[in-house]
Amino acid sequence: MIYLDNAASTPVHTKVIEEMMPFFKEQYGNPSSIHKYGRFANLAIQNARKRIANLIGADSDEILLTSGGTESNNTALYGIASQENGKHIITSSIEHDAILEPCKHLEREGYQVSYLPVDKYGLIDPEDLKKELSHDTCFVTIMFANNEVGTIQHIKEIARITQEKNIPFHTDAVQAVGKIPIDVRETEVDMLSISSHKINGPKGVGALYIRNGVKISPLILGGGQESGLRSGTENVASIVGFGVACKLAKDHMEDNVAHYKKLTSKLVTRILNEISGTTLNGHIEKRIPNNTHFTFLGVSGEDLIIKLDENKIAASTGSACSVRVQKASHVLRAMGFSHEQITGSLRLTVGITNSEEEIDRTVDVLKQVVQELRSVSPYKSKYNF
Ligand SMILES: Cc1ncc(COP(=O)(O)O)c(C=O)c1O
Repeated sequence: MIYLDNAASTPVHTKVIEEMMPFFKEQYGNPSSIHKYGRFANLAIQNARKRIANLIGADSDEILLTSGGTESNNTALYGIASQENGKHIITSSIEHDAILEPCKHLEREGYQVSYLPVDKYGLIDPEDLKKELSHDTCFVTIMFANNEVGTIQHIKEIARITQEKNIPFHTDAVQAVGKIPIDVRETEVDMLSISSHKINGPKGVGALYIRNGVKISPLILGGGQESGLRSGTENVASIVGFGVACKLAKDHMEDNVAHYKKLTSKLVTRILNEISGTTLNGHIEKRIPNNTHFTFLGVSGEDLIIKLDENKIAASTGSACSVRVQKASHVLRAMGFSHEQITGSLRLTVGITNSEEEIDRTVDVLKQVVQELRSVSPYKSKYNF
């Protein structure tokens, strides 16, 4: 199988598994226990926390461990909303459901939510944000990089605008962390969400960076772990694995980025040159290096995925990583795409284990299956492929 769905999840790195194993076998202590087992587990968590913080230039005590990107986003949104007096929230129209759904819930609770529009590349205009800010705005949440088209927002500029008005700013950086260098001191965000399984760590673990001085309320109450912000016995093995994944991402950032760029550049060049009626979606430069997203006119992305799967290639349309139901992408809709352009979209995201040979094989198969699907497409006469 050729796996080109690394935006959905990534293979767990062997070194990650190796460091996790003792915490299933011998080191099974509860990190809150006073005895040697407990102290060992607690130390392992603190070590992992340092590695996670180090990847984004934060301090260890600014890292709240969670069950993943979804929980980090929910914690940030509810945690800050319940601290602030205002009842107005600003976000973008292209966020992941892990932001949009809590926003919808907050709307039902009486909050007003502004969804900023994006241009055809998926970028919001910081001027639109300035116009939306009001005395009642309690926080702003804008994703760092989009999970479908990979577009990277002007995060530093957005952070500066919110800072001037003293409004907390959260960013969902699940797709950006580990793919581009991120320094929270430099970008000056107040909160930032990370997920382990997007960077070759285990699933079900993640973190929320909370800048020192930012106050949030806990979502989960109980034994008071994580400084009272997230109760429950810690998922020690996964936290350790997440820490290793962060260290590897940091240590190999330059090489990994070069590898991603080599593969995506080959994908883009070959696909655009060899398959007519095809466009690359998202921003040319301001995109995460492992993402490519195309529209193949006259075919259905879902049919493409099935055909690719039959040919042992795993891909995605990018629009439904939550449940198995495919829905028309709200991201592409917000970018002004027609129904037909949305239908024909395909996301190919590369990872550390992919090779150039795999990319060549993928393009060869794609050429064949696109042609096959177009030969029976209702749009056949419209495009004359
Ligand atoms: C941008 C973005 N935010 C949040 C999430 C959810 O993260 P997790 O799967 O760790 O809950 C995802 C997962 O695809 C994502 O792409």
